[in-house]
Amino acid sequence: MEKLIREMPKAELHMHIEGSLEPELMFKLAPRNGIALPFNSVEEVRKSYEFTDLQSFLDIYYQGVRVLLKEQDFYDLTRAYLEKAHSQNVRHTEMFFDPQAHIDRGLAFDTVINGIHRAQVDAESQLGITSKLIMCFLRDLSASAAMETLNQALPFKDWIVAVGLDSAEIGNPPEKFTAVFDKAREHGFLTVAHAGEEGPPEYIWQALDQLKVSRIDHGVRCVEDKKLVERLAKEQIPLTVCPLSNVKLHVFDSMEHHPLKRMLDLGLCATVNSDDPAYFEGYITENFLAVQKALNLDHNDIVSLVRNSFQASFLSHQEVQKLLDELDDYLERRELQH
Ligand code: HPA
Ligand code: ZN
Repeated sequence: MEKLIREMPKAELHMHIEGSLEPELMFKLAPRNGIALPFNSVEEVRKSYEFTDLQSFLDIYYQGVRVLLKEQDFYDLTRAYLEKAHSQNVRHTEMFFDPQAHIDRGLAFDTVINGIHRAQVDAESQLGITSKLIMCFLRDLSASAAMETLNQALPFKDWIVAVGLDSAEIGNPPEKFTAVFDKAREHGFLTVAHAGEEGPPEYIWQALDQLKVSRIDHGVRCVEDKKLVERLAKEQIPLTVCPLSNVKLHVFDSMEHHPLKRMLDLGLCATVNSDDPAYFEGYITENFLAVQKALNLDHNDIVSLVRNSFQASFLSHQEVQKLLDELDDYLERRELQH
């Protein structure tokens, strides 16, 4: 099972690029940019990553992004993630970025997106990994700030496939952003939203009905609402689940209590993802390994999760089929070896 998880071609659909900032890169960028860190070593940084809930994580995450100032910093960050993902046999990834976390520190929108985009282009041509970019609005900021951010993104809309919602969920329901998402869809963006991570199932309903999302990010609290589960299963709305994140942020008190297996058995289109890999002790492979072991997922569960990740991606039907074929080829070769 471990070999299967490591080797199989896969896609990642829920990963915040700023959450892939490893302490090692933090220590490289801070002196380069003349920024003092409140830590003496990489080990000290890692030790500080003890979270009680989403907000306690976000406080540290927004501290971390302060070392990102120049276009090259965003290039280095994105390049490092794409190399890591490639090494784990990720064929395609759809990455979130948080422009407001940078613009509010005085950076220009194009500094951020130019660095990320250049790394995407280079990684695709040099490593063969494909990627798309999803722009998230910080939901704890105002709807008018989100609208302003959307306007700033319009000149770059060919580089951004979708808009999403992240940051502090409770008290910031999807419906707060209905007008922003309406405008985003008018401009051709697809939509996704974090919902049902810490927030109630009602926020998942709102993301579907008000924001017309193509996928729900996290969505794990859907299991509390039978009607909602029925709808998600019937419409095969993908849920981008992040097991290590959920345990580190105490959404569930242990991996053994994670509902992923139950979600698959309910016919939901779930996928496995890393969320903020530098903060939650693992990239996509480590997430698969941890959840497989804790919930005793079988071969079919693992293969379903990967098929779901291809089918739930924003790739064309043709590109999806190519990845499904590659997976089938891999599984066939594996069979022959046994
Ligand atoms: N949840 C909400 N907002 C976020 C996260 C997350 O896991 N990571 C970065 N922003
Ligand atoms: Zn997330």
